[in-house]
Parts: sequence; C-alpha cells; structure tokens
Amino acid sequence: MRRSSPPGESRLDAEASGESASAGGAGGAGAPQPNAWESSPPYTVPNSLRVPLLVWRGRKEKQPVLSASRGGARPAFASRRRAQQLGGGLPPANGQGTSRGARVVLYSAQRHGAGPAPSPIAAGHGEGKTAPQRTLSRVSIMLLLSRAVAPGLRQACRLKSTPARLCIRACCTNDSFQPQRPSFTFSGGNSSTRRWRVVGTLLGLGAVLACHDQQCRASQESPRRYTREEVKSHSSLETGVWVTLGCEVFDITEFVDIHPGGASKLMLAAGGPLEPFWALYAVHNQPHVREMLAEYKIGELSPDDKAPSVLKTSDPYADDPTRHSALKVNTQRPFNAEPPPELLTENYITPNPIFFTRNHLPVPNVDPDTYRLNVAGPPGGQSLCLSLDDLYQFPKHEVTVTLQCAGNRRSEMTQFKEVRGLEWSLGAISTARWAGARLCDVLAQAGHQLCETEAHVCFEGLDSDPTGTPYGASIPLARAMDPEAEVLLAYEMNGQPLPRDHGFPVRVVVPGVVGARHVKWLGRVSVEPEESFSHWQRRDYKGFSPSVDWDTVDFDSAPSIQELPVQSAITQPKEGETIEAGEVTVRGYAWSGGGRAVVRVDVSLDGGLTWQVAELEGEEQRARKAWAWRLWHLQAPLPAGKKELNIVCKAVDDSYNVQPDTVAPIWNLRGVLNNAWHRVHVHVAP
Ligand code: MTE
Repeated sequence: MRRSSPPGESRLDAEASGESASAGGAGGAGAPQPNAWESSPPYTVPNSLRVPLLVWRGRKEKQPVLSASRGGARPAFASRRRAQQLGGGLPPANGQGTSRGARVVLYSAQRHGAGPAPSPIAAGHGEGKTAPQRTLSRVSIMLLLSRAVAPGLRQACRLKSTPARLCIRACCTNDSFQPQRPSFTFSGGNSSTRRWRVVGTLLGLGAVLACHDQQCRASQESPRRYTREEVKSHSSLETGVWVTLGCEVFDITEFVDIHPGGASKLMLAAGGPLEPFWALYAVHNQPHVREMLAEYKIGELSPDDKAPSVLKTSDPYADDPTRHSALKVNTQRPFNAEPPPELLTENYITPNPIFFTRNHLPVPNVDPDTYRLNVAGPPGGQSLCLSLDDLYQFPKHEVTVTLQCAGNRRSEMTQFKEVRGLEWSLGAISTARWAGARLCDVLAQAGHQLCETEAHVCFEGLDSDPTGTPYGASIPLARAMDPEAEVLLAYEMNGQPLPRDHGFPVRVVVPGVVGARHVKWLGRVSVEPEESFSHWQRRDYKGFSPSVDWDTVDFDSAPSIQELPVQSAITQPKEGETIEAGEVTVRGYAWSGGGRAVVRVDVSLDGGLTWQVAELEGEEQRARKAWAWRLWHLQAPLPAGKKELNIVCKAVDDSYNVQPDTVAPIWNLRGVLNNAWHRVHVHVAP
C-alpha cells in the first residue's frame, strides 16, 4: 500500500530517546547525551573568572546546541527568538562578527551562579592585534606559565577538544567526527594549585579558540569548495543535510526540524539543489528566506563540477489552468486565491470561476477517458477500479455545501501575533451545489461496512510532490458510511463538470467538515485502522493552545480538524470604507460545521456595546444537515452626528455555540480556526 511515512517521525522518536545518530545535530552518535554538559558544573568558579562554557542541551529544553556537522559548527537554536531569549544571539545574517565556519557560543559561568544574565562570548576574538599576534602572545604566556599550570592545561586540552575538532571538522571531509564530553571536574591539590589550574584552563582554552578563530577566518576568505558528489552524500540527518542553491552550498541540518513546511518536505531536497522545490513552493522566493538560508552557507560548488546535464527546474505550474482576474491571489504557485468580499456574498451559490481555491501543489491534468479511481477492498476482498462512466452508474446525489479552509481569516490572527500560513482574508469560504456518487454507496460496492473498531477512510489526490507523495487526508469511517452525512465523490459543481482547480474529474465533498478533507483529483480511497499518514492530516490543520509555539508544538498531541466551529463575517461595508450618513446596510455570511444550522446573527454598530439581530436570507436549513451558509443583512439607521462605526458580527448555531469576541484566546501558531467576532471599522461621510 502506498503510504507516506509520518514526516519527521523517526527523527523525533530518535531524539526523544536520545538515540539520534546525527553528527550534525543534538544527540548525535557519540555526542553528549542531552543535558550532559549543561548547567551547574561540579566546581565553583570565582566570579572574577568568567569561565567560558560550551553549553549543551537536550532537545526538549531548546537550548543552544553546539552542532558539528561537516563543514562547520554552529550554535543551533530551535528558533531565533528562543536564541535571543537565551541571550545566545544568533550571528547576524551577514555572518559578520563570528566565524561563520565555526561559530561557537560561549556563556559566562555566572549564568549558573548569582551573576548577571548570560552573555555570549564570541570565540577567540581578540582586540587590537592581528590574529597571528594574538595567537602568539597567548601561546607565549601559556608557555611561561606551563609549569605551574600544566595540569590545568591538560584539563583545558580536554576541554579544547570540542572547538578544536570543530574547526578541523570545518576544514576536512572526514565523517568520523564525534564531539567529546569535556570534564570540568578538578580533583586533588590545594586551593592555590586549583586556582592555577583554572587559570591554565582559561589560557589553554583561549589559545585554542584563537587558533580556531584564525583557521576559520582563513577558511572564510576563499570559500570552501565542494563537489556535487560531496553534497549528495549529505542527504540524511545522520550525515548532515546539505543543499545547494546556484553554486552555493548550505548545511541545513539544524533547520530541518524547524522548517515551517515540515521536516519531510525539506528532506526531499536533501543532498541536491533547492531550485526544483522552490519552483514548486514558490513562497521561498522571498528575500527573508534567502537571508535565512545565507546563515547556513558553508561553501560553494567546485567550479570544475559541471552542473547536472538536465536540472529539472522547468516550471511545474506551467500547465495550471487560467483563472478569473477577480480573484485575490494569495500565492500564484501553488495557486491560492479568494474572491473579494463584495463578490463573495453577491450570490448564495458562488460561481465556479470565483470559488476560492486552495492548492498545495500543481494542478494535475487528468484525462477523463483514462481516469480510474482505485477503491481498495477490505482484507481478502477485491479492489474497485472505477472509470468515470462506472461512477456515473451509482445513484447521482446532489447537495449544497459550503467549503471553508481552516485558514480562513488568518490575516486577522496575524495582526494579533505572527502565525505561519497564507494570509487569507475572509474569502477562503465558498458554496456550491455538488453532485456525484455517495461515498457510502461506493464503499459498500467495494465490500466495506461499518465496523466496531476505529477506522478511517483515507483519500489520495493525483497531485503529488517531486517524490510522488500525493496530497492526502482522511475522515472517520463512521461519517463516510453514514448516508445522512452525504459524503460525495463529486464530479459536478454547480451543474458543470468540476473545474480543474476544484478537482476535475472527481473530488471528495465532506459536508460540514474542514476544506482540507475534501480531497481533489481523487486517485485512491482506502479504509485504514489509522488516520491518513499525509502531512496535511498529521502535521498540519490542527489547533493548539495560544501558549504553544514552534519550539513546543507536538502535532501528535492534537486531533486533526474535522468539523469547524461557528463562523460569520461582514462582507459589506469594507474595512476603512466611507459610507453615506443616514442608514447603513451590513451584509455577510454565517456558517457552522457538522451540519449545525445558523439560528441567529447579531450585529453591533458600536464595537459590541449594543446589538441588533440581522435578517437571515434564504430558506430554513435542515436540522443536523445544514451544510451550507446563510447569507444575512442588517439595514439600520445611523444616529445623527456619527463619524465612524465599529461594526461587529457574531453568529449563533443550533447548539448555541457562539463566536469568541477576540482573537487572543484562540490564537494558534498555524493561524487556523479563527472565528472571533468579525470587526469592520468605517467612516461616515459628513
Ligand atoms: N486536494 C488535493 N488533492 N490537493 C490540495 O491541495 N487542498 C485542500 C482540499 N483538497 C487540496 C485538496 C484544501 S486545504 C482545501 S481548503 C480545499 O481542497 C479547497 O478546495 P477548493 O480549492 O476547491 O476551494
């Protein structure tokens, strides 16, 4: 059975158990076990002597890691923000101020005592002398004191092993690097001897770091060269993850885990060029992304190393359909767009050309004559391979359904606090009349029936990434098998064959459920004991507490979004508009997930102090099967002298669910599920 493995799972598991063998990251083979070097050293250090310590951390604590993947060591932080909080201060984007090839963040030992907040100490940066002079003077002092401090120096040598090796690491291609755990335990001798040893340790370390710094500066002057073969050999977390962009080489091992699109997506590019993937996910072609990448640069491709004969950078979106010019485009590649508010509620049924579009990948061009839908049978049973004509043989079922993306109104969440995701306004929602075969009929034909144990119907699209991994999602079998849930394998949208952007020739329509589960360009259906392993089921489209950030998020801890909460928004007037004095007409939509009917929409013209009930348009909705939105309007006189209005709307569904008044308590790092009161501020013409 084709199945994408859970993205990043093995890595996380390995890290959780401290077993990751990544030479380039925390917990690497032979690396100190998490927390091994951290905090309280088992000796006391005079406050006057700020002993620089390399800080190791366990991944869970998200403290800086000294990584030593090939080509350079860097302090790796789970995030820049976290790094700044820790005072570690990531090196500036331009790489100045630290040796890019081997940056080492050192903390004052006072961090562990009563002293001031930790300060990063740039490794081996002397003042007013040339690097060789600095090194020489430190070495001479060291020699003068060698007798007295020899034992301390030996200690320093143990301590030095890490930075020294790091530097060697930066300059060689040997993979056998294993960071060593330094020991800080000083034993024996009287207190004065111990003090000398501490001094010796410091001096030795200083010399080592100066030398290390010098070597790394030297290596910076002429960029280190790598062959494509070398880059290719760094394609896993064990070897380190390298990629190229143009002729530049980057070691992104530490970034894999914090890649916003998921570790698995990033690993697709491991060991090779980024271009084909950036062509696919065009969101990368932005200055800040390049800036971030620049921090991971370790060198350049050897000029002798010829570019691969055919680099597949041709535009994977070249075959995408043409779109309506009224759509407000969020991203062109993949295509994501929404209708403008003034068109959104113009009609109860959204016309196909302006129905919002949410694509994660290029639109497949499916030949309807050769199209086949594969429906896996139960164990021991037979699979179905259905042509379009076969699907037409099932009873045709029609249903009006509103589809809403989980990210609808994300831009309002962003205004409160940054989130990751497309900046949807209020138009990632639309309504259509869908027609097709009922999923329960097709599943029954394939021999499936409701079972007592948990089961899920998994869907795969025909759109896939460069590794062939398709878009996928799943819904519980109980919903799929329930004729009342009206889940469709739809081939018509508003009386037309599905448009290409919306899943031609067949898509899933799951009334009352988040858009992500309505899989387009449906290629395969199967019944599984677990949810789909797709990234979009397991690592996206989930909600979290406002307290969860990218350092702490655990996607396994939250259920995937299925039914959506009650929602409403104002489409007229628009934010910032100037309206005529006398009377105002407010329009909008309201909808709730799970078939819950909208029973009321409240509108306020004074920011929520007083409320009026809006008029719901259209027919009453079917109980428990209210799959589509209600449009509504309110016509209200304006008090004389009003110069501005703070218009607010909120809906109530038939379970008396209401919307929260602000974004703050529902903010989440992915910016999904925003159903806070919608607010529009307008001016009144004098
Ligand atoms: N199905 C496939 N195969 N590929 C996709 O990218 N996007 C999903 C869903 N089905 C997607 C997909 C998401 S996130 C949403 S919100 C809806 O399709 C959007 O459907 P639409 O583009 O027809 O509005």
